[in-house]
Amino acid sequence: MPEIRPYRPSDLAAVYDICVRTADAGQDARGHYSTDDLMGDIFAAPYVRLEPDLAFVVDDGGAAVGYVVGTADTATFVKRYAAEWIPFLGDKYPVPPPPPRTAEQDMVALHYHPERMLVPGLDLAGFPAHLHIDLLPPYQGRGYGRRLIERFAGTVDAPGVHLGMSTANVQARAFYDRLGFEQLPVPDPGPITYLGLRL
Ligand SMILES: CC(C)(COP(=O)(O)OP(=O)(O)OC[C@H]1O[C@@H](n2cnc3c(N)ncnc32)[C@H](O)[C@@H]1OP(=O)(O)O)[C@@H](O)C(=O)NCCC(=O)NCCS
Repeated sequence: MPEIRPYRPSDLAAVYDICVRTADAGQDARGHYSTDDLMGDIFAAPYVRLEPDLAFVVDDGGAAVGYVVGTADTATFVKRYAAEWIPFLGDKYPVPPPPPRTAEQDMVALHYHPERMLVPGLDLAGFPAHLHIDLLPPYQGRGYGRRLIERFAGTVDAPGVHLGMSTANVQARAFYDRLGFEQLPVPDPGPITYLGLRL
């Protein structure tokens, strides 16, 4: 039986793989960008490096097949992303021109602007934590997502956690609704829906 356990550094390649295979509104994003590392470099690896105590995986026989990652304090995470993660990646990605002109540049701009995580109008005092969760397709719909959220919620020291999801990802929305997340109003959400869970 797969089990939930803390992240280990040896899971890193699997975490990158899970991330890109689920990064297009829950579907496979491999081949969408010049490197399949890009999604993991923005949405998964900075968390396991900067917040390893809040990273958990679903382990099936030694291999990570799903994860939850996040931070207790988005404002501090933004500062650490800028001070530690951007220098760690160095010049792996060229700084995009302002404004970005391609889908890849749009994505890389997210990397170089971590303050984007401080969503204007979002109740950061009530929901200072945020998370990302992804499972490989064969492990979806079997209760592991619920268990990962429960593990994160039971570990993180915060009054509430939020997340931003592609509004197109209707399957994930049904999952979060079922777990009791509420929609968080923001003035200019774009194609993203913001959800929060009080802890
Ligand atoms: C979204 C995701 C994390 C959910 O995890 P999961 O393991 O598939 O969900 P679970 O099996 O734990 O479901 C938990 C509950 O939500 C319900 N649920 C999950 N998906 C649902 C859906 N599409 N429609 C209705 N209910 C759903 C389940 O019925 C279950 O209810 P119960 O616990 O009361 O019986 C997972 O499917 C996934 O990784 N998807 C691809 C990547 C992705 O979209 N990540 C989120 C990006 S924001």
